[in-house]
Amino acid sequence: MESIFNLQGKVGIVTGATRGIGWSIAQALASKGMNLILNSISNQELLNERINELKENFKIEADGFLFDVSEPNSVKECYNQIFKKYKRLDVLVNNAGIMKDALIPMISSEMIDRILDVNVKGVIYNLQYASRLMGRNKSGSIINVASIIGRVGNEGQVVYSASKSAVIGLTYSAAKELASQNIRVNAIAPGFIETDMIKDVPPDKFNKISENIKMKRLGTPDDIAKSVLYLASDLSNYVTGQVLGVDGGMLV
Ligand code: NAI
Repeated sequence: MESIFNLQGKVGIVTGATRGIGWSIAQALASKGMNLILNSISNQELLNERINELKENFKIEADGFLFDVSEPNSVKECYNQIFKKYKRLDVLVNNAGIMKDALIPMISSEMIDRILDVNVKGVIYNLQYASRLMGRNKSGSIINVASIIGRVGNEGQVVYSASKSAVIGLTYSAAKELASQNIRVNAIAPGFIETDMIKDVPPDKFNKISENIKMKRLGTPDDIAKSVLYLASDLSNYVTGQVLGVDGGMLV
C-alpha cells in the first residue's frame, strides 16, 4: 500500500496554493514526493517563501506562477512552462476560489461576474490545459474543490452556490469525456473549514452552521488535504466522477 501512496517523480499543480486549504494540499502532495507548481494571484514574496519551504522540507522540485486563474492567456502560459520543464502533468488541484455573500436584492452584476470568472471559468481553463498535458501520457487526476454549499445551498450565497454547483456539474461531464484517456476527474465538497475565507462569517450564522456539524468541530485544511492525497494517488485509481463530501457529517 505504501508504494501506491508514493508520488515520487510525479508532477502536480495546485491553484491558490499559498494559504488555507491550498497550502495544506501542497504540503501533503510534497510530503509524498510530488514535484509541484504553485499558483497564487498575488504576493510574489509569499509564493517564493512557500516554494523554498517545500524544497527544503521535502527535497522536491517546486516552481511558482503568479496569475489570475480567470485569465486564460496566463493559465495557458503556465502550462506551456510546465510542458517545457517536465513534459508531463499528473495532478491538477483546482483549489483557487472566492466567496462573497449577498442577499438576493443586493447581488450586483460585478459580483456575479467575478465569482463565476474565478470559481467556474478558472476551473475550466485549468482543466482544459491540464487535460491536454495529461492526455499525452494517458494518465492523470484532476481534483476540483467544490463546496457543500454547491450541494445544499445557503442563504446569502446564491452566486457562490451557483458557482460551486457548476464545479460539480463540470466534474461529471469532464469525468465522462476524459475517462477514455485514463484521466480521472473528481470533486471534493468541503464543509466548514477553518481558513481566512470564513473569518468574516457573522457569529449568528457561524453558530447556526456549526450546530449542524455532527462531528462537533470545524474542519481543518489538513482534513481536506488528506482526501486530496487519496484522489491524487493510485489508491483511487478506479474512482472518477465522484463528489467526496469532507464535512464532518453536515449532510447526514
Ligand atoms: P482562502 O481564501 O484562504 O484561499 C483561497 C486561495 O485562492 C487564496 O490563496 C487566494 O489568493 C486564491 N485565489 C483567489 N482568487 C484567485 C484567482 N483569481 N487566481 C488565483 N488564485 C486565487 O480560502 P480557502 O478556505 O483555503 O479556500 C480554498 C477553496 O476551498 C476555495 O475554492 C473555496 O471556495 C473552497 N471551500 C472552502 C471552504 C471553507 O470553509 N473554508 C468550504 C468549502 C469550499
